[in-house]
Amino acid sequence: MTTPTLDIHFGDNASILTAFADESFDLIYIDPPFNTGKTQARTQTRMVRDVDGDRVGYKGHHYRTEHLGAKAFDDAFDDFLGFLEPRLEEAFRLLKPDGSFFLHLDYREVHYAKVMLDGIFGRPSFINEIIWAYDYGGRSKNRWSAKHDNILWYAKDPKNYTFRYDDIDRIPYMAPGLVTKEKAERGKTPTDTWWHTIVSPTGKEKTGYPTQKPLGMINRLIKVHSNPGDRVLDFFAGSGTTGESAIRQGRSAALIDKNQEAMQVMHKRLAFAQPTFHGWQPEPGTVVDVPRLCMKAPSDS
Ligand SMILES: C[S@@+](CC[C@H](N)C(=O)[O-])C[C@H]1O[C@@H](n2cnc3c(N)ncnc32)[C@H](O)[C@@H]1O
Repeated sequence: MTTPTLDIHFGDNASILTAFADESFDLIYIDPPFNTGKTQARTQTRMVRDVDGDRVGYKGHHYRTEHLGAKAFDDAFDDFLGFLEPRLEEAFRLLKPDGSFFLHLDYREVHYAKVMLDGIFGRPSFINEIIWAYDYGGRSKNRWSAKHDNILWYAKDPKNYTFRYDDIDRIPYMAPGLVTKEKAERGKTPTDTWWHTIVSPTGKEKTGYPTQKPLGMINRLIKVHSNPGDRVLDFFAGSGTTGESAIRQGRSAALIDKNQEAMQVMHKRLAFAQPTFHGWQPEPGTVVDVPRLCMKAPSDS
């Protein structure tokens, strides 16, 4: 098997995608902006000891809040489906005949997108709607709190696609006492509802990029829906979660994003994979502290 490669492209995916050859990817996962109507932003701060600081902490020490900066992208569209449609058509063109496509959205747009994808791929190509359920943040007092995202899976050919059943990670039984000891020890396969925590705001996986998706979830997706040596595409790459997962599991990847901050985050996060950048160069002298080891199998799945 050849060494996996990582290509990162800077710019609007609409034009970059047209340069890729037909049927050149085995798996495409995208997580576009969800059309929340807001700017998605994450402000990074740190607390610094300061006798004049307005916050009081452990042992009565005073601290001030230092703002380190913010990472953001726009997430408000007048015509979200008009934006998405040509990109979904490109995804169909770029998929190999036995390839799979995953569209990650939430409750706001997923139903419209499903109808659109049925039109592009054909209804029989729709295989699953995966619900990513999490439990974090505040609760609404006016309605059921929305704590899930939706991931639509389409296979270009519903009779011929990759599904590596034996590579599915196992999860604990809810009632282990009701099954044999062997079964309880082995665990069960997940269903189309994936319970997975969000990226912890304080954990080491966090890059600071807004809407970063958990590596554990993307690992499951890439492990099961592609083979080692395959080529994966994510054209709304953000912090590069898909790229990290693909490379660590021996798949090649192409990533696209139009946001400078995404490039900076990926430059740092994915340095271990020695990516080739297209249309973007880091500032001269940028120091990269190579994150977490080199190409090693992921430990979290
Ligand atoms: C929801 S975020 C992706 C987060 C990513 N899955 C992760 O784990 O970090 C969506 C990304 O799409 C990018 N984006 C939006 N419109 C784009 C376009 N037309 N071309 C390329 N990237 C775009 C934004 O800059 C943002 O980084």
